[in-house]
Amino acid sequence: MDILDKCKNFTRAKEIMDAGMYPFFKSLSGNDGARVEMDGRSTIMIGSNNYLGLTHDPRVIEASKKATEKYGTSCSGSRFMNGTLDIHIELEEKLAKFMNKDAALIFSTGFMANLGAISALAGKDDYIIMDRACHASIYAGIQAATGANIKRYRHNDMNDLEQIISNIDKGKGKIIVSDGVFSMEGDIVNLKRMTEIANKYEARIYIDEAHGLGVLGKHGRGACEYLGLEDKVDIVMSTFSKSLGSIGGFVAGSEEVIHYIKHSARALIFTAAPMPAATAAALKSLEIIEEEPERMERLSHNSSFMHNSFKDMGFDIGQSNLTPIIPLFIRDDEKTLYFWKRLYDSGIFTNAILSPAVPPDQALIRTSYMSTHTDEDLKKSLEIFHKIGKELNII
Ligand SMILES: Cc1ncc(COP(=O)(O)O)c(C=O)c1O
Repeated sequence: MDILDKCKNFTRAKEIMDAGMYPFFKSLSGNDGARVEMDGRSTIMIGSNNYLGLTHDPRVIEASKKATEKYGTSCSGSRFMNGTLDIHIELEEKLAKFMNKDAALIFSTGFMANLGAISALAGKDDYIIMDRACHASIYAGIQAATGANIKRYRHNDMNDLEQIISNIDKGKGKIIVSDGVFSMEGDIVNLKRMTEIANKYEARIYIDEAHGLGVLGKHGRGACEYLGLEDKVDIVMSTFSKSLGSIGGFVAGSEEVIHYIKHSARALIFTAAPMPAATAAALKSLEIIEEEPERMERLSHNSSFMHNSFKDMGFDIGQSNLTPIIPLFIRDDEKTLYFWKRLYDSGIFTNAILSPAVPPDQALIRTSYMSTHTDEDLKKSLEIFHKIGKELNII
């Protein structure tokens, strides 16, 4: 048996390409945030995580250019060795303060933050109890947590969590891991019950705020702030690749936890440090988020306008509430692809989410919004969604 046979036998993507409905790896030849250039046409971008539109803010661009001029294009090494810059430390201090935690640690991507932090914290004989719908980077962290026991509870189902955790030996180390805002369906973690359970069974809590930062809570700290439970959460993680208009990730928590992760996380120690340009961009974006709360207000306005409009039209948007991620459930892979293609041909880019990313009966079009979408962009998109939704009997 040739190990590479699986590559030859992998035909699904080619079949979709041959049918002219392949929705992945589409290239952009221009990008203005809410509008992008694709296949030579201006397209409304309703599939990005650039929630506050900061990737194109002139101040963020300028900060990133200046950092490249000052520090070069790369750190050429790990943070552990030669690659830590003063702006990495400045960003860590600002993030810790912003998130209301003692300390923060930045990684080169959010994926690596989850991979590195979770695998550092959970080891032999420990228990990780996670939501089944957690992001793939959390799964990667858990798989890399050598010797740890892994338990998965039904999505956002705290009765199931309690049932599972109550059967674990009292003396064992336990950590509950969840997304704060779930990345595909836009729903929010049931944190109140989770904190009660964690308290009762002496477990720690780790929340991924990738889609909460800059989106939820009075100051934009995420789902934990929005729910008023920040002090009950031991470790928060987030990324720069969404509201912060950059690339990179971080974890924040107590001084000793962050110190431990800093000296144990292989995804930090054995990889090159975040680029100067990316670090400076995140720093500037953080400053803008603090100074311009109107961006979050506009995002919230756009998100609720779209929620209400989709609901009124009769789309199935699942449990999504309050967040800029709005799924349109189609519940069939083929039909989802076809819907995606019709939207794309009409000038809207969305994301087709198919099995195995979700179970086949949960296939969906993931739509997501930015503070920089204009009323005109949103109204035009809604007309197209409505027209095609009707034609395909989705609504
Ligand atoms: C919930 C969640 N966690 C972590 C990540 C990883 O972040 P990054 O893009 O910075 O690697 C993502 C991004 O897709 C995400 O949605």
